[in-house]
Amino acid sequence: MNDIAKEGLVAVEAISAHVPFHALSHQVLADATGQDPDKFHRGLGCSRMAICHPTQDAVTMAADAGETLLERWKVDPDDIGMLIVATESGVDWAKPIAIYIHQMLGISPNCRIFDVQHACFGASAALAMSVGWIRSGMSGGKKAMVIATDIARYEVGSAGEPTQGAGAVAMVVGEGSGGVLFPDFSSQAIYARNVMDFWRPGFCNSALVNGKYSVECYLKALSETYAHYRRSGGESYRQLKYLLFHFPFTRIGWKALVMMADVEAQISGDVASEEELLGIYDEKVKPGTTGAREIGNVYCASLYLALASLLEAEKDCAAGEKIGMFSYGSGSCAEFFTAMVGSRREIWEGKIGLLGGISRRENIDYETYLDFRKHSARLYQDNSFRIGDVPLGNKLPPDAHHLFLGYRNMKRIYIPGPAMRVCLSRKIRTGALPPVE
Ligand code: CAA
Repeated sequence: MNDIAKEGLVAVEAISAHVPFHALSHQVLADATGQDPDKFHRGLGCSRMAICHPTQDAVTMAADAGETLLERWKVDPDDIGMLIVATESGVDWAKPIAIYIHQMLGISPNCRIFDVQHACFGASAALAMSVGWIRSGMSGGKKAMVIATDIARYEVGSAGEPTQGAGAVAMVVGEGSGGVLFPDFSSQAIYARNVMDFWRPGFCNSALVNGKYSVECYLKALSETYAHYRRSGGESYRQLKYLLFHFPFTRIGWKALVMMADVEAQISGDVASEEELLGIYDEKVKPGTTGAREIGNVYCASLYLALASLLEAEKDCAAGEKIGMFSYGSGSCAEFFTAMVGSRREIWEGKIGLLGGISRRENIDYETYLDFRKHSARLYQDNSFRIGDVPLGNKLPPDAHHLFLGYRNMKRIYIPGPAMRVCLSRKIRTGALPPVE
């Protein structure tokens, strides 16, 4: 056994979020569709949802998150020995998103590159794999990069529509003590069961969902994993400082807490009143909900958006604390695990980019939202690429590093976005790069 395995010092050393530039508020959605905004605000716990411009997809969002991470955290791309993209918004049956990202981020050829897919569980599987890869000594001192990237899209007018969202979270996993998060997957509190709660056939652009049943499956998986974790000697939910969940919508955090309290009552006889649980919710669950409330569901990235929310919202309070994390992927596989937050908040301060990303956004109206959807669907067809044509170019996200412009001869076309052009010209001006001939 090597030293790292003995000490267990494998950490998420860096984390950055990509927040799409455009958002649709639930008030606007309610006004346009004649629904009660209270259902969205109070019933689901949502305020706004991120909507991707047609030139933005799972690839461009992952690249933006990864590039931001490399730049802000000063990570050398040559140090990355494994790159895993976790997504259920894949763009090809064979070619992984990770290989586009590998090129866009300038990572060395000496690197394992692949995508993982299991609905919203993918990023947790990738994180557990990365921790194991480093702990085993197989990494040879290199780091793993995990990027969770997804677009949650349902049919217009469906019950799922208000729970849409989009975004990406990039993390670097490495060995050492100066980390942001030290995950512990050792309790093996995992629960897998084949259910048809949520799925997307290869020929569909939007997900299909048996909504209420999916909530039942989610809560059943939570009760099974939390019970397993407790029976293996884990602390109770009251002892964990914060509780982060996969948040398809914020309100599920309350349902999840109630479920944990029920399981706890059966296991230890500790019964919590509703009033007590409301207090526990505010203290332990709410700090992780900002991303979900403002961005919506981001599938694989959702739990890690909750982590980013907690780190940015709680600052000193979260440092050095033990937290509980619940990951659920429809279909289904779920895991409850714990993690220690790093003890020095200066490490992540100003580098995550979630709250800044949320505050810089532009709100769109309902017609623009429908337009974005229409143009996104058009680009997903062969020979949709037209030279010189940038769909809805007047609404281009100014912070985009890359733009997807459609297919030409069955191949996806990406070009540098506005932020990349600014960055390249700055590098040329300062002599860091020679001018392009
Ligand atoms: N004012 C206040 N609250 C209101 C209201 C009003 N006017 N009208 C309704 N509500 C409340 C309801 O009481 C309900 O609250 P409770 O669940 O606490 O009872 C809530 O708003 C939702 O309303 P409905 O029960 O009418 O449910 P819906 O038909 O709108 O569907 C949903 C809700 C099933 C979550 C639907 O949005 C959906 O299908 N979402 C997509 C699937 C999903 O997110 N599943 C989650 C588990 S699966 C998973 O986690 C994986 C994943 O990411 C997809």
